Amino acid sequence: MSVILVVGGAGYIGSHTCKVLRRAGHTPVCVDNLGSGYRSAVKYGPLEVGDLRDGAFLDGVFFRWRPEAVIHFAAHIEVAESVKRPDLFYSNNVGGTLSLLTKMVEHGVLNLVFSSTCAVFGLPEVVPLTETLPHAPINPYGASKSMAERIIADFSHAFGIRAVVLRYFNASGADPDGEIGERHDPESHLIPIAIEVALGKRDKLLVFGDDYATPDGTCVRDYVHVVDLAAAHLLAIDHLKGKTAFQAFNLGNGKGYSVLEIISAVERLAGRPVARSFAPRRAGDPPLLVADSALARKRLGWRPAFPDLDQIVGTAWRWHCNVMEEPAA
Ligand SMILES: NC(=O)c1ccc[n+]([C@@H]2O[C@H](COP(=O)([O-])OP(=O)(O)OC[C@H]3O[C@@H](n4cnc5c(N)ncnc54)[C@H](O)[C@@H]3O)[C@@H](O)[C@H]2O)c1
Repeated sequence: MSVILVVGGAGYIGSHTCKVLRRAGHTPVCVDNLGSGYRSAVKYGPLEVGDLRDGAFLDGVFFRWRPEAVIHFAAHIEVAESVKRPDLFYSNNVGGTLSLLTKMVEHGVLNLVFSSTCAVFGLPEVVPLTETLPHAPINPYGASKSMAERIIADFSHAFGIRAVVLRYFNASGADPDGEIGERHDPESHLIPIAIEVALGKRDKLLVFGDDYATPDGTCVRDYVHVVDLAAAHLLAIDHLKGKTAFQAFNLGNGKGYSVLEIISAVERLAGRPVARSFAPRRAGDPPLLVADSALARKRLGWRPAFPDLDQIVGTAWRWHCNVMEEPAA
């Protein structure tokens, strides 16, 4: 099978993808600066520690491993931080992607799978979200991913890069075997925060806004299991063997859950209450984000294996109960 560079493979979604690649017989070579990733999450192949904006470092990695494809997860991901420090986000998410693409072309590695996000669509007027909606990001994080997508499309046209762009909705859950899971620092995602409250690691959870035009007034999101996202990357690698030059896919389960429904699911599975209080709406939070993933089902043959909310929350809960406290890197 083939060697695949997994850039950002020490992070949450990257580490789960390395496991799926390994199981399929590939060699996932993790490339990570360990800025927000964890050395202990790199269990399924070798680790090259360095920054993707360091061209000499990337030259060494491409010479040593001669990969068949690159999966690019590495990015800053926290929306609120992107508003305060757009410099960091554009440097890493745009500059890093440009650096990586340039080295891919120089080394003749032309197959790419890129991690994008529903944040490229901003505040969509049409739900569920198809790939045909226009990009209209409302924060530097979404803008950085939209710019990276554009750069990839241009490199595809000019240099023959074949690219699959995967736009995740809310990545969630953990490896069902309990080997790896979600560890962001600071954590900004709802399910791990609710679990931390249930475990007594936080006092309470803040629900931002209870007056949206949704059934219970709180925001609705499409939660998709991280192992299902990982499986989509394996399918995307296969897809690149076809005639695809550039193709984007939205990845979600097509079903939305409100903040209060997520809290109830955590309380049910944990058997403990989750203290919460209500806070004003956050600027730029769309009321409803649900994916239309028909294209991924049709073209990639993607079939989520863990679509149920209880599977998502249950695997996350088991991981958080067992995870050892470990500092980043
Ligand atoms: N988590 C989600 O719900 C979600 C949703 C949509 C899109 N995404 C996208 O998926 C990707 C992965 O997200 P995640 O949740 O696994 O994040 P993460 O922070 O857990 O993983 C990112 C990894 O990239 C590494 N990295 C960052 N900058 C780097 C650099 N310059 N050089 C080398 N390594 C670098 C980090 O150390 C980390 O291991 C990101 O691109 C993110 O934008 C995530």
